[in-house]
Amino acid sequence: MHGKAANTVVLTGIKPTGRIHLGNYLGSIRPALELIPAYPAYYFIADSHSLTTVHDPEKLKRYINEAAATWLALGLDSEAAVFYCQSAVPEIFELMWVLACVTAKGLLNRGHAYKASLVANLNAGRDTDANINAGIYNYPLLMAADILSFQADLIPVGQDQRQHVEIARDVAAAFNRSFGPIFKLPQASMLGVAEKIVGLDGRKMSKSYRNEIPLMAEPGELRRLVMRIVTDSRRPEEPKDPERCNVFALYRHFAEDQDVEHLRQQYLSGGVAYQTVKETLAELLIGRFASARRRYHDLKADRARLGSILDQGAIKARETARKTLEVVHSAVGIGLKRNF
Ligand code: TRP
Repeated sequence: MHGKAANTVVLTGIKPTGRIHLGNYLGSIRPALELIPAYPAYYFIADSHSLTTVHDPEKLKRYINEAAATWLALGLDSEAAVFYCQSAVPEIFELMWVLACVTAKGLLNRGHAYKASLVANLNAGRDTDANINAGIYNYPLLMAADILSFQADLIPVGQDQRQHVEIARDVAAAFNRSFGPIFKLPQASMLGVAEKIVGLDGRKMSKSYRNEIPLMAEPGELRRLVMRIVTDSRRPEEPKDPERCNVFALYRHFAEDQDVEHLRQQYLSGGVAYQTVKETLAELLIGRFASARRRYHDLKADRARLGSILDQGAIKARETARKTLEVVHSAVGIGLKRNF
């Protein structure tokens, strides 16, 4: 395609486990969308990864639908990028098995999601592996298969997924050592806003803290949530510290530079109420995502259209993943191209 750096493939997965929030947007969605015009891109809904934690089929279907509609509404062009559901590409799971057989079990012991569950068990005095399913343990292997099926080079992810991409790289290198130089070595790229995006309570915005502001929330809900952002109790006339204010921290990412500077001065000199800043932030967010929200609702309601976009993507994805799988199968001595 014109202008694309054809040798560098970008790929990222979106795990549908809840509503997409402002932290997801600034940390990974926006930078991932910005890469599409420049590189061949594979962006997918990691629905099979969600199964490690979501065991409610109705909820999972809703999360998948919302995630797909959100990405498209934010401008993902499904002609310019290959956009699909992971579970619609069985070749990924076939590759995962081969990768499992070259991966040291000890590498997975170090996976951070698994380790975090293990430490939580230890601290609670439970059996170390209590409530940890084998999907959580094998999570990084599925991620390696997601990436290596498409020989992806650049993986735009948030900081929390960096280690998983490094594991994928180690898995690729282990395969290459045994069977020859088949895989490119993928690399995480952290292009999003580097500092943590704060949630309603000032901690990192995260579903697990239940402090998130959903990107596609209705104006009423957005206003209500923004009003709940925790601040100190300084009165309107008192000077305030913009660097220690959760409302300012969010405002900064969405407002124009000169507006940010203006508000900073108002904080420092006093005379602005947190209430007023919250109202400004809420209206800013409502306006900023108004047209995306309209597209989102149209898409969400049109399941046939969403389904057909994802199916088209899966057809393209399977073609590539099938080729990789054939090369891998013949390198290890199994599959259709074996010698009899
Ligand atoms: N684990 C990622 C997350 O939770 C989602 C994901 C699945 C992914 N497979 C991937 C990201 C492959 C990048 C590449 O956000």
